[in-house]
Amino acid sequence: MSSAFDDFELKGHKFDNRFVVAPMTRTSADKKGKPTELMGEYYERFAKGGWSMIISEGVYTDRQASQGYINQPGITDAPQTDAWKEIVERVHEHGCKFILQLMHAGAQFQHNEYTDTPIAPSAVQPKGEPLSLYGETDGWSEVKAMDESDFDAVMQGFVGAVKRAEEAGFDGIELHAANGYLLNEFLSDYFNQREDQWGGNIGKRIKFVEMVAKAAKAAAKDDFIIGIRLGQITVTDPDYHWPEGEDAMIKLVKALKEAGIDYIHTADTDVNRKPFKGGSAKTLAEIVQEFSDIPLIVNGGIDQSNYEHVAAHYPNAMLAVAKAALANPDLPKRLKSGDKIEDLDFAMLQPTATLENEWKWRTEHDKHINDK
Ligand SMILES: Cc1cc2nc3c(=O)[nH]c(=O)nc-3n(C[C@H](O)[C@H](O)[C@H](O)COP(=O)(O)O)c2cc1C
Repeated sequence: MSSAFDDFELKGHKFDNRFVVAPMTRTSADKKGKPTELMGEYYERFAKGGWSMIISEGVYTDRQASQGYINQPGITDAPQTDAWKEIVERVHEHGCKFILQLMHAGAQFQHNEYTDTPIAPSAVQPKGEPLSLYGETDGWSEVKAMDESDFDAVMQGFVGAVKRAEEAGFDGIELHAANGYLLNEFLSDYFNQREDQWGGNIGKRIKFVEMVAKAAKAAAKDDFIIGIRLGQITVTDPDYHWPEGEDAMIKLVKALKEAGIDYIHTADTDVNRKPFKGGSAKTLAEIVQEFSDIPLIVNGGIDQSNYEHVAAHYPNAMLAVAKAALANPDLPKRLKSGDKIEDLDFAMLQPTATLENEWKWRTEHDKHINDK
């Protein structure tokens, strides 16, 4: 049997296999960012399906400018935290670990209950169009470059969210520094055009991410996992790459090692892609593997055709799966038993990626997994 089914250990936490559900935004909380019953059913479905860990959808961290999508869940107050607590219990009942992904939308801001003004390193809008998958919008809003008080608010938001995630019973958090959201924007020379201590060469562009990682570590108890998701591409700019090539990733990995980060989650369209400027022959995850001993979570196009190879190539990694997990919420069980693996029907996520739309699709197609 593939080593993907081997036990795995991360910061003293033991996992029965190396399969992880990748973070997926489903915009299905209530208007106040409180997780719903349907979300509990959704996350429990994966826990029953044999995954050893789930990373939640990106969750907003403060009541200023961090929310990016309508009906996005938050972790900013007691009602949100209590609702998460119930879901965490449902997931833990099946022996599955649960990580909360902390996301500040930055310039990628489509809907926010608390403000109309996005904040980002510089007053720069994302390329392309907002994502209709996450609700209707009239285009990108005008962005405000962060000032001192915004830095404080963002930092306090992340630190408060770490504490509330602990309170809700999560096993850890993942800082979302990929896909074009705020922390990723600091790393980017497109979004980050600052000329102060936070912008310029990669050494400076890393600084804020490094500071948030250190603050998250300091806020958490010893056995609480603090991971980070990294990548170059953004949801509306699949070609973006750091101007320093692989050197940017090497510097980032070394800084995160120093910050004491517990895992690095590399995100790309394809786990085997060599994404760096300058023709480097390495993947994002290979850089982590070569320049540190930090445990990895790898992501991008992992499915039944390649998971054995990916597991062998990255022996110190868990395997995060998004689309194949949506199509097969019990993928690990199916891979083990040899049961049929379904392809993802994108109609499941139309017209928007809500759980209600998925539920309608499952009813129409007689695919009610948990009822079986
Ligand atoms: C519906 C949907 C929502 C997503 N939402 C998030 C998110 O909230 N946070 C995140 O880091 N990535 C998000 N992603 C990206 C996935 O985690 C993953 O990186 C991407 O789908 C590639 O992995 P895959 O080939 O296994 O699907 C989302 C992907 C999908 C399909």
